[in-house]
Amino acid sequence: MAKLNWGMIGGGEGSQIGPAHRLGAQADGNFVLAAGALDVDAEKGRAYAQRLGVAADRAYANWEDMLEGERNRDDRVDLVTVATPNSTHFEITKAFLEAGFNVLCEKPMTMTVEEGEEIVRVAKASGRICAVNYCYSAYPMVREMRHMVRTGQIGKIRLIVTNFSHGHHGDATDADNPRVRWRYDPKMAGVSGQFADCGIHAMHMASFIADDQVETLSADFASTISSRELEDDAMVNFRMQGGTVGRLWTSSVAIGRQHGFDIQVFGETGGLRWASEQPNQVLYTPVGDRTQIMEKGEAGLSDEAARLSRVAIAHPEGFPLAVANIYVDLAAAISGDARDGLPTAEDGLRSMAAVYAAVESAKGNGAWVDARPPMFR
Ligand code: NAI
Repeated sequence: MAKLNWGMIGGGEGSQIGPAHRLGAQADGNFVLAAGALDVDAEKGRAYAQRLGVAADRAYANWEDMLEGERNRDDRVDLVTVATPNSTHFEITKAFLEAGFNVLCEKPMTMTVEEGEEIVRVAKASGRICAVNYCYSAYPMVREMRHMVRTGQIGKIRLIVTNFSHGHHGDATDADNPRVRWRYDPKMAGVSGQFADCGIHAMHMASFIADDQVETLSADFASTISSRELEDDAMVNFRMQGGTVGRLWTSSVAIGRQHGFDIQVFGETGGLRWASEQPNQVLYTPVGDRTQIMEKGEAGLSDEAARLSRVAIAHPEGFPLAVANIYVDLAAAISGDARDGLPTAEDGLRSMAAVYAAVESAKGNGAWVDARPPMFR
């Protein structure tokens, strides 16, 4: 496959997610960083892009200049990654799709359900790929769990229990730190704090493994640090279209939990358990039998899990290689080989609908509400 040209917006020096994208996109030699508008500070962004090897005329001051600069080039970028703060995702993603670029947008894809529907429509009309970075779904052993569910190895799924709870915003004396405070300020973060930040990863994962969609939900939100306008803890019960019962806890005040993302899937004939801090193993318990440890890289895994495992058994693979798996499938899709499992704008939209449903439910004392986007009802 010829190398594809890649452009990045946001993800500047010192950003949280920027390095994972750069490692991921370039891990397999599919993409070369050819253009960027990396930082809200134009000069910093231009200088950093050039240090990363981008030519001076493609190290742009902002995304508008990048759109204009790339639009008419013969060697224009094949894919644009949007790794800026949430409130900018919609306008950047929409503008690049409309100009005929493929886009990988960070989550949450938009700030509202209406914007999410607009992105789904624009992506469809443009015929371009719009993916959303639900990168945890690209861990090999997560793909193995989905394969096991699809092939009936644990029977019909009765129950999914998932958590994405950490304690990094649990210090009340640090609540005014500007890097923390904006996440609980509706003007900056939107209608939801912790659920929109981390909870949607867990909800996407539940849908991904179950191969099913969330239909209704009931939410309890709490601002356990009382100065916070948006929730820092949420418990969300949900039901999937196929009848699966879901329980989701997400928190940023769970002191002692580090990354804290795990999922358990309970079927009629077995259970599965995976945690992001030990991503190379799945615990599998057939009904009436002992728990087995399944290991990334071992013989007998599904083709999909084997394809996405890169280094030998027992050698750790982690977050940047899960992001790399998203880029592998993007490179294939851009070259006309669509890949099952790539998270798309439709997944991004479903998350926004779940966020709005959870906010409505929490305001209504946990009333059950429809969690589907209007476009998919
Ligand atoms: P951050 O605040 O650490 O970095 C943001 C970067 O974007 C900075 O370099 C900043 O200068 C740049 N930027 C801001 N506005 C810009 C603009 N208009 N044009 C160009 N650059 C601009 O933020 P972080 O944590 O890296 O998050 C970025 C996005 O990634 C968020 O939407 C977040 O939700 C998402 N994220 C996703 C994760 C995942 O697991 N998929 C994990 C962490 C973050």
